[in-house]
Amino acid sequence: FKTDFLTDNRYQFILTGLKNTLIIAACAALIGIVIGFLVAVVRSSHDKTGNLKILNAICTVYLTIIRGTPSMVQLLIIYYIIFGSMNISKLLVAILAFGINSGAYVAEIFRSGIMSIDNGQFEAARSLGLTYRQTMLSVILPQAFKNVLPALANEFIVLLKETSISGYIGLTDLTRGGDIIRSITYDAFLPLLGVAFIYLVLVVILSALVKKLERRLRSNERN
Ligand code: ARG
Repeated sequence: FKTDFLTDNRYQFILTGLKNTLIIAACAALIGIVIGFLVAVVRSSHDKTGNLKILNAICTVYLTIIRGTPSMVQLLIIYYIIFGSMNISKLLVAILAFGINSGAYVAEIFRSGIMSIDNGQFEAARSLGLTYRQTMLSVILPQAFKNVLPALANEFIVLLKETSISGYIGLTDLTRGGDIIRSITYDAFLPLLGVAFIYLVLVVILSALVKKLERRLRSNERN
């Protein structure tokens, strides 16, 4: 009885699952960053200037709904209700669901980063003649980004692990891959511990990468 890792089709479930998990997490993280950035800028501009009333209201509704309901229910709603009548790729549904979900958390992370920068910097930049936009882009946001990196890393760890609910829409992610092997072989031990170990390795790698980025961004600080 020989088991060849790449051709034994039990391992194919793990490999396919891992591939899907990585695709979902990476694409959702990108969508989350874009949404989160836009929402955070709208909300903090509103806080500072009182402008953008309607956009700010829309963002508040988005944050309330997304953070107020379980990501699992959101995934099911997007799959069965919003795209229920369409023949759409499950991968795409998962990417959208997790991206929209993550965006809400990223928005608050970015907003807290913007608030962490002393208002004096804002006033100083404006009194030097920079526009609101220039102040934001070249003074506030670069510093804010540095301050929120740890929280952002945390969010991506949560996001990566949260993709393990993708099996609920019939998608073979890493968790489902391992569970399929369990159901075929009646052996829970190895597949599930294997899956846990792979998540662990992914999270450790992710943390190491963020730590490296953090150190690099700190290196150009005056002290
Ligand atoms: N599982 C929890 C929920 O259903 C947490 C989701 C948190 N997601 C995130 N991207 N931080 O809401």
